[in-house]
Amino acid sequence: VSPTAASVASLAAVPDTGPVPRHVAIIMDGNGRWAKARHLPRVAGHKAGVEAVRRVTRAARAMGVEALTLYAFSSENWRRPEDEVRFAPDLVALVDDAMAKTAANTGPILVIALNYGSQAELVAATRRLAARAAAGEIDPAAITADDIEAELDTADLPPLDLVIRSSGEQRLSNFLLWQAAYAELLFIDTLWPDFTGDTLADAIAAFGQRQRRYGGL
Ligand code: IPE
Ligand code: IPE
Ligand code: MG
Repeated sequence: VSPTAASVASLAAVPDTGPVPRHVAIIMDGNGRWAKARHLPRVAGHKAGVEAVRRVTRAARAMGVEALTLYAFSSENWRRPEDEVRFAPDLVALVDDAMAKTAANTGPILVIALNYGSQAELVAATRRLAARAAAGEIDPAAITADDIEAELDTADLPPLDLVIRSSGEQRLSNFLLWQAAYAELLFIDTLWPDFTGDTLADAIAAFGQRQRRYGGL
């Protein structure tokens, strides 16, 4: 996504509340409960959740976040009823098309995590490293944390600074387990479809007040 004049203008309007996280990841949870509270089918919650994605993506860009990773569908979400997990061919084509159309974009990065699971990501990374070790290309004793990071789906992204989960649940649900090692965690009661640009601004302000020590003093 390339920055526009409007986003530059709103960037200037953001009050100085401390450092802005370079990479924010959001577990977008609570669509089903939002719908249930309105006596609507769960899919209505997912639809409303799409609007929240638009609001939050715009707000993140305006606030100067370099990378926004949104957890949209976990590798465990296949356990849901079929009508909620249909990756129909036309949907897959839309995703491919969106990636192709934005591949050459400069500016902030939007990552949508689909069929993502952190443990599967680590298993795949481990297998690639093990294969290279078995082929004699690398020495197992010389494998470093950087080598592992280079094999993760997030290899090209800035370090993860902030993980936000909506809907009041306080768990990671197999999201970015390695990457969250020193990320700040923020659990917000708001259900995802009610999430606004202001909710994100509040979260980023709270991040700005955190003291990160990385094990030091
Ligand atoms: C988040 O909302 C969307 C996905 C996990 C795909 P949920 O569908 O999990 O909503 P709740 O948790 O049932 O309210
Ligand atoms: C996590 O939410 C996955 C996404 C938001 C995509 P879930 O609703 O699937 O998580 P659990 O099952 O409550 O842990
Ligand atoms: Mg949920």
